[in-house]
Amino acid sequence: EKGGHDYFMLKEIEEQPEALSNTLRGHFADGGVVLDEQRISEQDLRDINKVFVVACGTAYHSGLLAKYAIEHWCRIPVEVELASEFRYRDPVLGRDTLVVAISQSGETADTLEAVRHARTQHARVLAISNTNGSQIPRESDAVLYTHAGPEIGVAATKTFLAQIAANYLVGLALAQARGTKYTDELEHEFSELAAMPEAVRSVLETVPQVRELATRMCDAKAVLFLGRHVGYPVALEGALKLKELAYMHAEGFAAGELKHGPIALIEDGLPVVVQMPSAKGHSQLHAKLLSNIREIQARGARTVVIAEEGDEAVRPFADELIEIPAVPTLLQPLVSTVPLQVLAAEIARHRGYDVDKPRNLAKSVTVE
Ligand code: F6R
Repeated sequence: EKGGHDYFMLKEIEEQPEALSNTLRGHFADGGVVLDEQRISEQDLRDINKVFVVACGTAYHSGLLAKYAIEHWCRIPVEVELASEFRYRDPVLGRDTLVVAISQSGETADTLEAVRHARTQHARVLAISNTNGSQIPRESDAVLYTHAGPEIGVAATKTFLAQIAANYLVGLALAQARGTKYTDELEHEFSELAAMPEAVRSVLETVPQVRELATRMCDAKAVLFLGRHVGYPVALEGALKLKELAYMHAEGFAAGELKHGPIALIEDGLPVVVQMPSAKGHSQLHAKLLSNIREIQARGARTVVIAEEGDEAVRPFADELIEIPAVPTLLQPLVSTVPLQVLAAEIARHRGYDVDKPRNLAKSVTVE
């Protein structure tokens, strides 16, 4: 049942192209996004002038990515908040606010309570979930189901990629409702999303390389992850995976913050995993990251670089180089997360841990 794999998580990592195509299929037709349930009127959707995204853990990291897409496409301010923090600070909510609640299980207590709070304040709630008929969708005004299939491994993998795709679909739905994008532009963005299952399939070819790298990283005391822009949430996700599976100290940082503190952590041999922006798609940030890598390498860090194929400039500074296909900037997390999932799972396996059932964790967190 593990499809010839040592553990479910690796099988689920390899199922990500299907998880993505199943999530996209049926959610875009006749030039527009189709939600699974929709009880918000066209007029109310048009009037939305503020979006909050609430979620926990890995789902929260997918939510951080929603902000880049929704603000860019819809010109609506977006705040992304940990569900456990949201209602305790009396957020400013009203009829013109859309709260997007992301939860693969649909049962996470903190996210559910955030939804309930939002509704008492008359905000509209849109749920993104992988579980049909679960509580969070049932208490929401609109629903988009990811179709990642059942996820056995406690650590979220394919549901994370499916959530990213779902967030982007929600961004396109809002752009459509508000008229900030024409139908042909929506179709273009969707066709770029639709090409991602193939890109993820090609990044899976790095699995043997990453497995081998893991054998050389499993004794590290700590691992740092750096990224910028959409690479920042990916860095956070890479660190979370390593903490929860391999029980290692791992931190994700926005690379621009290095000199404001974290660079003091760099010491001889410390592995630092860097998400490289595209040299073509984001040349300014590419140059900034390049100088960060040079700086940390000079201080003894062992640099593990995730970079676009053909990124020659980064080669001299990459002690380990993992190449990912070139894709549009907003979509890069869909490919760049994959090696980090494999890295965490394989380091955990080499350290002798149960990859599918990390200690102290539950698949569905129904208590606050
Ligand atoms: C990490 C992980 C958790 C969940 C979090 C939210 O691998 O699985 O961080 O992402 O508990 O769960 P859902 O999405 O069910 O609300």
